[in-house]
Amino acid sequence: MRGKIRTALIYGSTREGRFCDRVAGWVASEIAVRNAFSVDFVDPDTLGLPSRHERELAPAVARLRERIGKADAYIVVTPEYNHGYPAALKFVIDSVRDEWRAKPVGFVSYGGLSGGLARWSNSGSSLRSFTP
Ligand SMILES: Cc1cc2nc3c(=O)[nH]c(=O)nc-3n(C[C@H](O)[C@H](O)[C@H](O)COP(=O)(O)O)c2cc1C
Repeated sequence: MRGKIRTALIYGSTREGRFCDRVAGWVASEIAVRNAFSVDFVDPDTLGLPSRHERELAPAVARLRERIGKADAYIVVTPEYNHGYPAALKFVIDSVRDEWRAKPVGFVSYGGLSGGLARWSNSGSSLRSFTP
């Protein structure tokens, strides 16, 4: 029998008291129903990433790239911040190179008034430009 599809569930928020944990938990429970997927929880809050992009490859960035590279598919769970997405998620996206090229990605977004929808209609800051 073939192995499970390795999914990386990427958290968008590192905010103290974040709601992201609840949404990510729900997404994980939906994935678990299928039984065809394994999930690696990629939480920028626990990755120990540097606060800026550095000339030398930081060990935490190397570990992140390795985890992303091992996944077959991605689900990004993110809130909407100022009609965009949080800086922590941007840093994760910008830290990865070819590791996720040509692999599928899905998005689960949420927010306040707009419910996370504005980001999809605002191409200027949209995750639509993020196409691994
Ligand atoms: C800095 C900041 C900016 C926000 N900007 C928006 C926004 O533009 N549109 C929206 O619908 N909600 C906005 N919200 C509300 C958040 O999307 C909402 O509270 C969400 O649950 C936060 O997720 P988190 O707790 O996982 O960080 C913003 C919240 C914060 C903290």
